[in-house]
Amino acid sequence: MVYPLLKIESVSKIYPGNVLALNNVNINIDDNEIIAILGSSGSGKSTLIRTILGLTALNYGNIFFRNNNYKDKNYKMIRNSVATIYQNFNLVTRSSIIKNIILGDIAKVSSWRVLFNLWPKETINKAIDIIEEVGLNNIDCNKRVENLSGGQQQRVGIARALISAPDIILADEPVSNLDPQTARDILRLIRETAKKNKISVLCSLHQVDFAKNFADRIIGMKEGNILFDKPAKKILKFDLNKLYK
Ligand SMILES: Nc1ncnc2c1ncn2[C@@H]1O[C@H](COP(=O)(O)OP(=O)(O)OP(=O)(O)O)[C@@H](O)[C@H]1O
Ligand SMILES: [Mg+2]
Repeated sequence: MVYPLLKIESVSKIYPGNVLALNNVNINIDDNEIIAILGSSGSGKSTLIRTILGLTALNYGNIFFRNNNYKDKNYKMIRNSVATIYQNFNLVTRSSIIKNIILGDIAKVSSWRVLFNLWPKETINKAIDIIEEVGLNNIDCNKRVENLSGGQQQRVGIARALISAPDIILADEPVSNLDPQTARDILRLIRETAKKNKISVLCSLHQVDFAKNFADRIIGMKEGNILFDKPAKKILKFDLNKLYK
């Protein structure tokens, strides 16, 4: 039997104050799928991503990672298989490009090596290959991240996600702090590197045209509910009207 990479089954999340952020959400994610989540502010996109990361406790339902229930506390497995990319890049800005990228592999390196900054040669070589993959090879990799542009910082963010060889990348509005052209370039890079490395992506976005170009499949959320979940090519004006009205 082939299990989905992730199975989100009848998941509900109620925040204090009786805020129903996720209402009986069901989503299956397979390997090599690029999925965008669209929905207006407060529709539950970040909550969905946080629950998949195990950062928010569910009130109802289950999440399975390759048929392993999160309730069985398989956090190590999840940590090794899931990488994240954030809107504000979440980098150690006073640290170098290469060090930020290597930190993405921290779960697989023993703690004494991390403590003494003794990174395995293999990790360093992997980081150098990935720097080329994300198009940062023209910049000195010892340069501090705080001296890079937003687009370059997000390339470091993508490289940090790729180095752990995850099964899935979760990205919460990864381009909302970038100008439109840089945003397009970054989404193209996420898509191309994910496809090449056979990684699935679940990515929240606010721009419909970006989502259509980026994703194989688009999930529309409104007030904690899934309004539609279909191939990007089959999204109709009618779907979008329902989503944003
Ligand atoms: N920690 C929290 N405590 C209470 N309510 C919360 C919390 N986090 C989110 N909410 C509420 O849950 C709902 C969903 O929020 P969420 O952040 O998931 O939306 P979103 O789709 O990511 O929005 P945005 O596009 O603005 O990022 C909102 O009504 C929000 O106010
Ligand atoms: Mg959000």
